[in-house]
Amino acid sequence: MEQTRKKTRIAVLISGSGSNLQSIIDKAESGWLPVEIVCVISDKEKAHGLERARKHGIPAFFVDRKLHALREDHEEAIITILKQFDVELIVLAGYMRLLTSHLIGQYRNRIINIHPALLPSFPGTDGYGDAWRYGVKVSGCTVHFVDEGCDTGPIILQGVNRVDECDTLESFRERGLKIEHQVLPEAIKLYCEGRLKVDGRRVKIL
Ligand code: GRF
Repeated sequence: MEQTRKKTRIAVLISGSGSNLQSIIDKAESGWLPVEIVCVISDKEKAHGLERARKHGIPAFFVDRKLHALREDHEEAIITILKQFDVELIVLAGYMRLLTSHLIGQYRNRIINIHPALLPSFPGTDGYGDAWRYGVKVSGCTVHFVDEGCDTGPIILQGVNRVDECDTLESFRERGLKIEHQVLPEAIKLYCEGRLKVDGRRVKIL
């Protein structure tokens, strides 16, 4: 009998619409991505991504930042869930909160984030808007391991989004999101296949 490969247990952290989460769900359900999404966690109660998760039978949690005075305490509440579900890899898919060393230290090189610009350009909360207003001709998205800085961790993959002369910020963002939906699952797949080796700032793809 053919042995089935073990699926990587991932948690997806979100704050909003969850379109990246949806792309992971779809690619996991089709069998292309060897993951089990064991839980989805949001710091926003109304995040549409929570509904997307529940629709697919994935346990979905809102962890209220306001209940905790310290960021570390909020993270501790998240860690409790991560441990409960025996999470191997954490995917930040539009999670709009910086993590502290409290969480990062426990999951070193096991947290990845998607950022909507070609890092190190335009870090922060509005990658599309910042790149657009700067007038770049080429932008894109970056998937990277998370370290203690703001969008500073070692880069895994980048996708390119060329600015079209007829673009508006909206069309630029819309096309960019479609690229994100390809690049993030690809990076997760590489991780699951054990093909990423972090060597200082460089991530080697084996
Ligand atoms: C994406 O553009 C992501 O790169 C950024 O926030 C957005 C989240 O979109 N960090 P969604 O919630 O996945 O639709």
